Amino acid sequence: MSSIHYLSAQVLRNERHGADLGWMRLAVPGLGEVAPGQFVQLNCGEDLTLPRPFSVWASNPDEGTIDLFYRIVGVGSARLATWKIGEQHAVLGPLGRAFSLPPSGSRLILVAGGVGLAPLDFLARHLVGRGLETVLFWGIESAVPFALQREAAGSGLTEGLSLSHLHSVGVKNRLASLQDREGMYHGYVTDLAKEYYQRLTEDERASVRLYTCGPLPMMAALAGWAAESGLSGEASLEAHMACGFGVCVGCVAGVRGEGEKRFYRRVCVEGPVFALQEVDWQHMC
Ligand SMILES: Cc1cc2nc3c(=O)[nH]c(=O)nc-3n(C[C@H](O)[C@H](O)[C@H](O)COP(=O)(O)OP(=O)(O)OC[C@H]3O[C@@H](n4cnc5c(N)ncnc54)[C@H](O)[C@@H]3O)c2cc1C
Ligand code: FES
Repeated sequence: MSSIHYLSAQVLRNERHGADLGWMRLAVPGLGEVAPGQFVQLNCGEDLTLPRPFSVWASNPDEGTIDLFYRIVGVGSARLATWKIGEQHAVLGPLGRAFSLPPSGSRLILVAGGVGLAPLDFLARHLVGRGLETVLFWGIESAVPFALQREAAGSGLTEGLSLSHLHSVGVKNRLASLQDREGMYHGYVTDLAKEYYQRLTEDERASVRLYTCGPLPMMAALAGWAAESGLSGEASLEAHMACGFGVCVGCVAGVRGEGEKRFYRRVCVEGPVFALQEVDWQHMC
């Protein structure tokens, strides 16, 4: 973002899925390029003092549009769900540090929970477009709002349901749920990712890099396993935000320095993407 000012966004689509999920397409002339992991701040209503941060799920710079995937959790996101096609709303962005691109030859394992799918779906399409072997695992407890297809076992993945839109561009993927749901891995999405990793050859394991976004306990569990297994990767964190551009210091997260040292970093500018091993998970959860 070259300067800090809100842009006017027009709602092109806004579709609600089930009780708590929705996706939205906004035309935001002047927003420019957005990288996977970056987010926007949305002004959800004049009576709401603070804007709300949402990851960009897809971006089309030629058409000047972005897509968002949101969960209704409170007053701001509920307001978002009522936005009508053609309405204009204020958007600030793109904001934050994006995911870093891995070296060629890397094998990427992406682990998403809930609406944490948004930045990882964007990243997966970006990585596979660069010819990188990319597998995404998504833990979802709500009704799935996307088209699914049944996949046979292969390439280290067991039989099960996958997201059609990712499959069609070459991103292998599988779904997990803590409920017993037909076609989904029954258990933690982190365990599904671990089982996939264990089926890789030693050479394949050496090239693995992890990316994650979702509930804190899920990311902390993945970070713990990554540390034990000597794997590196990145996590996109959430924090309550006010300004979104580094001024109010309202969004800090604890990171680890050498030895026992602890520091605070602003999630909006030094994040939301951090190295997995940099985050002080113990004090975040
Ligand atoms: C960088 C970033 C990217 C995000 N991307 C997405 C996304 O792609 N899709 C999506 O649905 N949500 C995303 N979020 C979370 C989203 O910003 C919050 O759900 C939203 O601000 C809640 O606003 P509200 O007014 O609906 O809820 P409120 O009425 O403000 O709060 C309702 C409940 O949600 C909790 N909550 C509020 N804000 C946050 C937050 N920032 N993090 C964690 N819990 C919160 C509150 O503690 C409370 O329990 C992201 C957050 C960040 C920081
Ligand atoms: S939200 Fe203001 S410094 Fe991050």
